[in-house]
Amino acid sequence: MKKISVDTNDKKYNIYFSSGFDSIKEAVNECGLVGRKLCIITDSNVGSIYAQKVKNALEGCFESIYLYSFKAGEKSKNLDTISDFYSFFLENHIDRKTVVAGLGGGVCGDMAGFAAATYLRGIKFIQIPTSLLAQVDSSVGGKVGVDFKGSKNIVGAFYQPEFVFVNMETLDTLSEREFAAGMAEVIKYGPIHSYDFFKYIMDNKEAVKQRDKNCMQHIIETCCKIKAEVVAEDEKESGLREILNFGHTIGHAVETIKGFSLLHGECVAMGMKAAFDICFKRGDITLNEYNEFLSLLAYFGLPLKAEEIQPEEVYSQMFLDKKVKSNKLSFVLLKGYGKPYSTSAVSREEIFDAINTISGDSV
Ligand SMILES: NC(=O)c1ccc[n+]([C@@H]2O[C@H](COP(=O)([O-])OP(=O)(O)OC[C@H]3O[C@@H](n4cnc5c(N)ncnc54)[C@H](O)[C@@H]3O)[C@@H](O)[C@H]2O)c1
Ligand SMILES: [Zn+2]
Repeated sequence: MKKISVDTNDKKYNIYFSSGFDSIKEAVNECGLVGRKLCIITDSNVGSIYAQKVKNALEGCFESIYLYSFKAGEKSKNLDTISDFYSFFLENHIDRKTVVAGLGGGVCGDMAGFAAATYLRGIKFIQIPTSLLAQVDSSVGGKVGVDFKGSKNIVGAFYQPEFVFVNMETLDTLSEREFAAGMAEVIKYGPIHSYDFFKYIMDNKEAVKQRDKNCMQHIIETCCKIKAEVVAEDEKESGLREILNFGHTIGHAVETIKGFSLLHGECVAMGMKAAFDICFKRGDITLNEYNEFLSLLAYFGLPLKAEEIQPEEVYSQMFLDKKVKSNKLSFVLLKGYGKPYSTSAVSREEIFDAINTISGDSV
């Protein structure tokens, strides 16, 4: 089975890549988790398709397997749901030797990880990401948490899993919209890492859209490799890890203003467009690079404008983000492909111009 190692100060672990769930047994063996109890946390959509398959694949590995399913969606990502997990843990005598598995998208992985990080001051945890976004982003790096009173991921922890198991076949059942939103995070790795990766996606865009297995495998592995390298260098986001926030400063503000009616990846797509606008006007990105970037986002059906957003409102919202330090906005910009940098030196005018390019009222 193919694997990539993630090497952080806290822990060294593998991301395994597979078609099907059968080889998950190997991962459990390799990580010395055989014979324990397993508690699978999943959501109502993913659970109904995959929970039994995972249980079957793990037959004989664990002493017993418990399953808890919550209502799918970002609205569930809160402390009430975590409290339900804790109750389930208590009722089923989940102990220090139990392993918690998050089977689902980023919402499920973030919450299962948070519950594992906090119950009994931390029990072992594995990630089984099933959405494209979770496979290329949220399952790797150890950020876990929940939303609180409208603030996204404001309560959380850094907690690394024992392993991440990516079964690429799960992408087959993902809706088109969710797939496209995941592609926004995939495409993000182009500007922050290399033009070569961006070009690979562009040259293979039809196959990617068809979710061709070979293409998707290459893409997911590359994204995980890039994220693993970044996280290895800066696990707790004191520097380099910020580059993963490319497109997120404006994207997050739009996401909040729209009351989470747009998907995270859709807002990141708009946020990246806005960031490209700033880079282009600074002379750091060519018009050709700008245009081809936008056309790739559009090819995957990602929105490049949001209706009914007021630039002033987006600007104010940006200051409420948890990443704002000392009232200073932080942007990830590019000096060209593969040359990201983080800066607070972005003028109000540049920001407004950028927001205007994604506001539905602009031409
Ligand atoms: N921890 C991190 O570093 C990190 C990074 C990025 C995003 N996130 C978080 O991730 C979350 C978004 O993740 P997401 O986009 O996966 O959302 P999600 O978990 O809500 O999944 C999206 C939808 O797809 C469904 N789904 C997932 N896999 C499926 C499959 N294989 N087949 C059919 N349906 C499937 C889910 O049930 C859900 O309805 C946000 O809460 C965000 O804050 C965390
Ligand atoms: Zn993101």
